[in-house]
Amino acid sequence: MTAHTDTVWLFGYGSLIYKVDFPWLERRPAWLQGWARRFWQGSHDHRGTPEAPGRVVTLIASAGARCRGMAYRISPDVFAHLDHREKNGYARRSLEFCFDDGGCVQGVVYVADPANEAFLGEAPEADIARQVAVSHGPSGANRDYVLGLAQALRELGGLDAHVAAIESHLLGLDAAHAVAK
Ligand code: BEZ
Repeated sequence: MTAHTDTVWLFGYGSLIYKVDFPWLERRPAWLQGWARRFWQGSHDHRGTPEAPGRVVTLIASAGARCRGMAYRISPDVFAHLDHREKNGYARRSLEFCFDDGGCVQGVVYVADPANEAFLGEAPEADIARQVAVSHGPSGANRDYVLGLAQALRELGGLDAHVAAIESHLLGLDAAHAVAK
């Protein structure tokens, strides 16, 4: 195997799976052991506002959990763009993740930990969906973020129960809204 000493592996588990606005050299479906994807991070700058934050995903350490995502081999220069894009509470962590087709690497993962000021934390999935349904920010509707992520995970074969539940509540709200009209 070639050792790419001048490049870095990045693991994406949220918008980095489906909003790929950065150059990459290689990409491979991958998974992270011991972490769960959760809509527990507030979004003040993309899918909501400081007064009415939306909800986006972060990773929560959770024994036995496995998070599916997409790994990208990138040039370190790309972090300037990504650090700016993901500035609302996320920090780069060095974690090991594994490729679906074999092998594991130590790479970079953006994680918003509970100490950051935009962190919202746990809530019932139905409440999360209600918050998502009414949130909008400079990057668009929070609902589009959830539906885009759910679709991308489905295509990856890795739609998890938490994302599926929020998507389902969101679509239920749409149906209830249509009936009420
Ligand atoms: C990701 O897709 O890995 C990601 C999600 C939120 C912030 C930064 C990165």
